[in-house]
Amino acid sequence: MPHSEGMRGKGFVDAIRVEGGYPVEGSITVEGAKNSALKLMAATLLAPGASTLTNVPNISDVHVMGKVLKRLGAAIDVVDEHTLVIDTEPVASWVTPYELVAQMRASTAVLGPLIARFGKAVVAMPGGCNIGARKIDMHLAGLSALGVAFDITHGNIHASAPDGLHGAEVNLEFASVGATENLLMAAVLADGVTTIENAAREPEICDLANMLNEMGGQVTGAGTPTIAVEGVDELHPVDHEVVGDRIEAGTFLAAGALMGGPVEVKGFDPEHLGLVLKKYEAMGMEVERRNGPDRASRGAVISREGPIRPLDIQTLPFPGFPTDMQAQTLVLLSVADGACVVTENVFESRFMLAAELARMGANLSIDGHHAIVRGVERLSGAPVTAPDLRGGAALVMAGLAADGYTVVSNVHHIDRGYEGFVPKLKSLGAHIERLNV
Ligand code: EPZ
Repeated sequence: MPHSEGMRGKGFVDAIRVEGGYPVEGSITVEGAKNSALKLMAATLLAPGASTLTNVPNISDVHVMGKVLKRLGAAIDVVDEHTLVIDTEPVASWVTPYELVAQMRASTAVLGPLIARFGKAVVAMPGGCNIGARKIDMHLAGLSALGVAFDITHGNIHASAPDGLHGAEVNLEFASVGATENLLMAAVLADGVTTIENAAREPEICDLANMLNEMGGQVTGAGTPTIAVEGVDELHPVDHEVVGDRIEAGTFLAAGALMGGPVEVKGFDPEHLGLVLKKYEAMGMEVERRNGPDRASRGAVISREGPIRPLDIQTLPFPGFPTDMQAQTLVLLSVADGACVVTENVFESRFMLAAELARMGANLSIDGHHAIVRGVERLSGAPVTAPDLRGGAALVMAGLAADGYTVVSNVHHIDRGYEGFVPKLKSLGAHIERLNV
């Protein structure tokens, strides 16, 4: 795998330094969606043979998923920085490496495909992370309905379906993205029809369903709350382009909104940020949507003349306001001309950013799932620590507007989900550099 920008040097500090106050304008193109690519990679286990994924982001989470598949026996040819040929013909193991699953929760996406292919799987229980407990009870309950038995010992989930997988009616208590994906990847080879009620509707779910259908699957209703899967006997390898990353796009659009822009972001479908762009317009931004025929001609342009207007935000599963855009929007609202409330309904502790933003002079008070935000005139640069992937990106964004220098440490979090974060911001005029000291 090629080195990502974030591969650390010999230094003790892996940080990003930003000098605030400079214009941010121009055009960038986003990569393929992290939260789709990882599952599409797992889905290649369903069809022995060589599948080609294009528009794959060159990020550390993709590298970890590549290691998981290789440890299972797959051969991966990195054709170029964004194209992987994954041959899962040689895969003969259904036991995932404990340390890799513990390192990256998304590795649990191999659970459904391994059970579908081998009738069994051993996957480490994913640990929690900074934003919440990240349980997988809904994954396990749903797969149990399809005939899977589980035994959790010594930190590993031992799954088996001795009588094979059969179709079932599954009602998700919460529109869980991961649970919906694992269920899709198991049901596609089950015997009979599975319906998933209260299914997640994120664009990444549709991308996975599209790939499964291209492989010979029979999935209908993806993108709606009810998905039906008619099991088939086998799937075949496929070539598939990863959908554009709406969250990477939203992050750069938020940076343009913060600094005034205009910033053009290409390579994603603006419909995938529907509510975000509407909210940003209500906050005083100008947004021009581009719905061209192909990835290069799709995107949006954002700019702002007047002040940022405060606006209450509630995160919810798609098509609600995405939790992955909460941190970036909190930064915008921290310099709005008034007060508002941001409510995080998806994760139980996704306000770790607040304490770091407070070092920069933001006026936030956290009350459970609510952040009361009182806009301040200007943030001031400070040394801060990235609490997680999106919080880290949001702190760098805050540094663009802050007075003086901001040094964000623990930026390995950012490398998990953003390819070339610093070069892209630099190309928009930001005074920013990576420090490996
Ligand atoms: C995916 O996580 C994304 N990650 C997350 O993006 C994203 O925030 C999240 O979906 C919601 O959109 C990937 O796709 C790799 P969930 P996932 O299952 O699948 C609880 C980023 O920054 N839950 O929809 O884990 C769970 O604890 C990351 O790119 C259960 O309780 O999200 C959470 O509170 C962060 N039991 C809520 O549901 C379960 O069995 C939503 O989780 C499953 C989930």
